[in-house]
Amino acid sequence: MVCESNNKSYLESHNLKIIGQSTLKGKVKISGAKNSALVLLAASILTDEKIILDNVPQLTDIEKMGSILESLGVKLQTKDHQLTIDSTNISNKELPFELVNGLRASFFCIGGLLARFGEATIPLPGGCNIGKRPINEHIRGLKALGAKIIIEKDIVKAKLVEKRNRLHGANIRLNCPSVGATETLLMAASLAEGRTVIENAAREPEIQDLCNMLNKMGAKIYDAGRKKIIIDGVQKLVGCSHKVIPDRIEAGTFLIAAAATSSSITVSPVIPNHLEAVLNKLEESGSQITKKGNSISIKGNKIEAVDIKTAPFPGFPTDLQAPFMALMTIAKGRSKISETIFENRMNHVELLNEMGSSITVKNNVAYITGVNKLRGMKLVGSDLRSSAALIIAALISNEISFIYGLEHLDRGYESIEMKLSMLGAQVTREIDIKKTKKSMHESSNLNKEDVSIASAA
Ligand code: EPZ
Repeated sequence: MVCESNNKSYLESHNLKIIGQSTLKGKVKISGAKNSALVLLAASILTDEKIILDNVPQLTDIEKMGSILESLGVKLQTKDHQLTIDSTNISNKELPFELVNGLRASFFCIGGLLARFGEATIPLPGGCNIGKRPINEHIRGLKALGAKIIIEKDIVKAKLVEKRNRLHGANIRLNCPSVGATETLLMAASLAEGRTVIENAAREPEIQDLCNMLNKMGAKIYDAGRKKIIIDGVQKLVGCSHKVIPDRIEAGTFLIAAAATSSSITVSPVIPNHLEAVLNKLEESGSQITKKGNSISIKGNKIEAVDIKTAPFPGFPTDLQAPFMALMTIAKGRSKISETIFENRMNHVELLNEMGSSITVKNNVAYITGVNKLRGMKLVGSDLRSSAALIIAALISNEISFIYGLEHLDRGYESIEMKLSMLGAQVTREIDIKKTKKSMHESSNLNKEDVSIASAA
């Protein structure tokens, strides 16, 4: 972030200062799901009537998606956690590179633009630090629905095949249960002529939330959440109001943090069956879990080593692999964590080892031997969920840690330092108004001269 003042510009970087070993206690409010809100925003362009979204998390990814929609001519109004989206006057069907870059979810707009306007031009969503992130399943499915797609100089140009004024239904079998591809095809098929069947569809709760909203808008979608989804296309979709489901990944992150600090907390609102696989593994590793309505309480005590293997829903979610690995660093015994969804989602291992963990990785499988303690140190998060893992490791340590790279964290966790502080953790967000000169991996016995900071809770 750059701050301008009296003709000078200061480079401002934020970091979290964490004094570890606090026991967490109390109840934490879970925000709306990032990965639901993003696709619901994209789905809003399917109608020329107003969509009112409640429980929208305040995250940088949501702001970015809002800017992308506004660049198309969509009008957005924000009131606290409510977003009113008016796509009456979409004038542009081309997403600007500078906005799309770094927000993969922007590619979801292709389904809505194609279905409603018959054309879309979207820069290829690049890979990111967890993997290549291809879109071949999206493209293959859209072609089956009657889109003509060419990719030139990393720009995806899509339009209807000649002489057709609408997409048409098709039978599509995905080669992998891609969340994004399922969502893109659901949006495109909702306005296509005739029936579409998506086989090997993703079953994540965010898919079900999207289908619930699309059906409120007049879509005819059956069996959302199952491997085979049926969509009977309609002529038009209307506006509606919809509340975003709670963020199961944020809830899981806090539950894992409680287990890692032998704490007792309650997370709410949450839908317990969105976290079955995670709750089972937390119980297997020694925590006590109580589910009550839209709340889950955890009582952490001993931590036994358990093996996990990430898988599409309802399996163990890849987005909680890194946080769970932080827990396993101090478990009693040896554990094995297999990442089967993304090819490069072990970015947290190096820094966890520098903190004193004992982890080796081979062919996307991490082998962890539990240790007794972790050192506090200066850390830099490299992606959203790795950053969450570093926070959990810092809470485990009995020393001070500084975590940089908050631009990743702020994409997916709303006010995480405030929520942790309210649970009793000693966490503050610091704003560094002068770049630190020292290396990013020094010990935590920093003296104040090194970093001129202004502390903010
Ligand atoms: C969504 O990403 C989420 N993002 C991710 O959350 C989440 O990790 C992922 O689903 C898996 O659950 C959003 O919803 C915005 P995929 P997405 O398509 O849709 C391969 C977070 O931390 N694949 O299900 O991109 C792909 O390479 C983020 O919140 C193809 O081969 O995930 C990957 O290995 C990270 N071809 C696997 O499928 C395709 O066309 C899963 O990808 C598409 C995907």
